[in-house]
Amino acid sequence: MGRRRKKIVENVTITGIADKGMSVGRSEDGQVLFIKGGIPGDVVDVLVLRKKKSYAHGIVHKTHHYSSDRIEARCQHFGICGGCKWQNMAYGAQIKHKHQTILDAMTRIAGLDSSIVHPTKPCDQIFRYRNKLEYSFSTSQWLTREQIDSSEIIERKPGVGFHPAGSYDKVVDVEECHLQDSMGDKLRNFIRNYAFANELSFYNTRSHNGFLRNMIFRNNSRGEWMVIIAVGEDQPEELVGLLNTIKDNFPSIISLYYVINQKQNDSLFDQEMILFNGDPYLKQTLGDVTYCIGPKSFFQTNTEQAKVLYDTAVDFCDLKGDENVYDLYTGIGSIALYVADRCRQVVGIEEIEPAIEDAILNRKLNGIENASFYAGDVKNILTDSFAERHGKPDLVITDPPRAGMHADVVQMLLQLEAPKIVYVSCNPSTQARDLKLLSEKYQVTQVQGVDMFPHTHHIESVARCELK
Ligand SMILES: C[S@@+](CC[C@H](N)C(=O)[O-])C[C@H]1O[C@@H](n2cnc3c(N)ncnc32)[C@H](O)[C@@H]1O
Repeated sequence: MGRRRKKIVENVTITGIADKGMSVGRSEDGQVLFIKGGIPGDVVDVLVLRKKKSYAHGIVHKTHHYSSDRIEARCQHFGICGGCKWQNMAYGAQIKHKHQTILDAMTRIAGLDSSIVHPTKPCDQIFRYRNKLEYSFSTSQWLTREQIDSSEIIERKPGVGFHPAGSYDKVVDVEECHLQDSMGDKLRNFIRNYAFANELSFYNTRSHNGFLRNMIFRNNSRGEWMVIIAVGEDQPEELVGLLNTIKDNFPSIISLYYVINQKQNDSLFDQEMILFNGDPYLKQTLGDVTYCIGPKSFFQTNTEQAKVLYDTAVDFCDLKGDENVYDLYTGIGSIALYVADRCRQVVGIEEIEPAIEDAILNRKLNGIENASFYAGDVKNILTDSFAERHGKPDLVITDPPRAGMHADVVQMLLQLEAPKIVYVSCNPSTQARDLKLLSEKYQVTQVQGVDMFPHTHHIESVARCELK
């Protein structure tokens, strides 16, 4: 029996952006299509992959008309590496669509009036804005469609770079990435050349063997770097040789770690990070606060915009100096310490124990005496007895991960009745869902988008809620 042919819907005009950065359009007969690829303004034929009753999912098969918002992508790896999906869209148009994402979430999900949503704050620096990138080594490079279809026999070589979407075992071998300072390019290419010259093996995620596995580069605004090399096999001579060569050739690396990760997955949170050379932390100053960032700590990945984000939150907090503040999902105490000198006391909660250790260290380093931190799931820590011990909050700042707040946390906030809540979010949909739940007692008075991630669909949104 032959395979059933996939359907192609012709002449679909892409009109907007949907969830997870998919584009959305309508066919000539009104069918809604969620499309991978394409940008608003394009007219395309769509290869339908999945069909539901009232909509379908598909990918761009052919483009008839290109949107006037299209520009030439800067990166040689654009369209393959899986990041920067919007690099071919003018930045002004990116901001327009990100802003629309917030407006849609706030009006459709939270039921708010669009007039409370301020224009989204763009980034000044739209390339080289990231302070952290992670690269993977692989025994097998990703090949493009053209390479596969060409008559030449192309050998799959080892590579260092990013996994394209949907591939866990192959990497796009990256020559240049415009997301982090160009020193990152020099360093990655240097390590690759050293590895080839010294015949170091690359990790194979299928057979789970090989030496070089992942590396994480972090940098601060002073031009200092933290590098973490993760290896899959304990080969002391090769490891020390590599680490010494990195140290000797890159004096701006002030913190050099390694990890021997022999698990089947790449996550390093449960692994011991061993300091090979230099300082255990990278320091970053934002406003009046200097943060020590450990190898496992979360820190906002766009330093310039982290300040814009925190200043927006501070503005919404409208602190007078005598408030009791809770900072939920505090990470390394970033926002708590940022607001500490503007309130009576601040209490931070975070589930990652080492992050809380960093928060306590950061408190000490900055001579802050009115901040306390607790490790654990907010859902379990934020209880009646916690509020009795620390006093009812005058203000709650909350900055949960993409999934938003657990329903129990929202219930607890409704019970605590803090006069104000400032909700920082990296996912306007889950933020809007939580704001809808909070609307039982709270009125949202302002919402502000802050772009932290140019060339992606991601957008940060800050909402100010007042007790009714
Ligand atoms: C978006 S980050 C915000 C961190 C911090 N506010 C900042 O600006 O750097 C979310 C934080 O929530 C933490 N987290 C995730 N789920 C949690 C939970 N259930 N309870 C406590 N913390 C959690 C994560 O480890 C992460 O540090």
